[in-house]
Amino acid sequence: MPSAIENPIKKRIVVLISGTGSNMLNIAEHCQDNKINGDVVAVIANRADAAGLAKAAELGIATEFVPHTSFADREDYDQALVERVQSYQPDLIILAGFMRVLTPVFVSAFADRIMNIHPSLLPKYKGMHTHQRALDAGDEEHGVSVHFVTEELDGGPVILQSRVPIFPEDTAEDLQERVHEQEYRIYPLVIRWFCADRLKLTEEGAVLDGATLGEQGYAPE
Ligand code: GAR
Repeated sequence: MPSAIENPIKKRIVVLISGTGSNMLNIAEHCQDNKINGDVVAVIANRADAAGLAKAAELGIATEFVPHTSFADREDYDQALVERVQSYQPDLIILAGFMRVLTPVFVSAFADRIMNIHPSLLPKYKGMHTHQRALDAGDEEHGVSVHFVTEELDGGPVILQSRVPIFPEDTAEDLQERVHEQEYRIYPLVIRWFCADRLKLTEEGAVLDGATLGEQGYAPE
């Protein structure tokens, strides 16, 4: 029999999505293949037409739709979302294309265990339309960041980034595709670190294997 130390209890992961859910699917598959010491126990969407809901259900994962349109303001919605997420007793909450700004109501309920993936080299291009903004600025490189979520929009400590080149004829769609390929590599890796208790959020920032990470996360070069 493996000891509890060799075979620690799997972390419970809840994923929030708004759309396609390709990152969610990739993460769920990594969990099911035992490449991450965790289980995606629920996928929750704020939009009924989020295609990822059906994909998660096909994998046998619990799904929920919590419509933001049913609530008077962001705080009320976030309180309802907190209650639904809390019901799954998560160790980690993953935002994977969840296109809503979260208020302190949500962030404070799950402080230090929410992560997001954002399609830019943070701190550049917080917010929307990041691929087009990188093109419009004439940038020669672009990328993606995984970060802990704090109350500042796209502003929590970066854990890991991946860079991609921008070529002269690129469109926003080309960049989105190139960035997506990197997302499928770095998000599961970071989640694996967290689920192995190697990564945490502290007052100093993101800490991996006891070392505080810099502004651009692990391996800034
Ligand atoms: C991903 O590219 C992710 O980086 C982005 O939404 C996409 C979701 O794709 N997130 C944001 O823009 C958050 N600000 P997916 O639904 O196929 O995983």
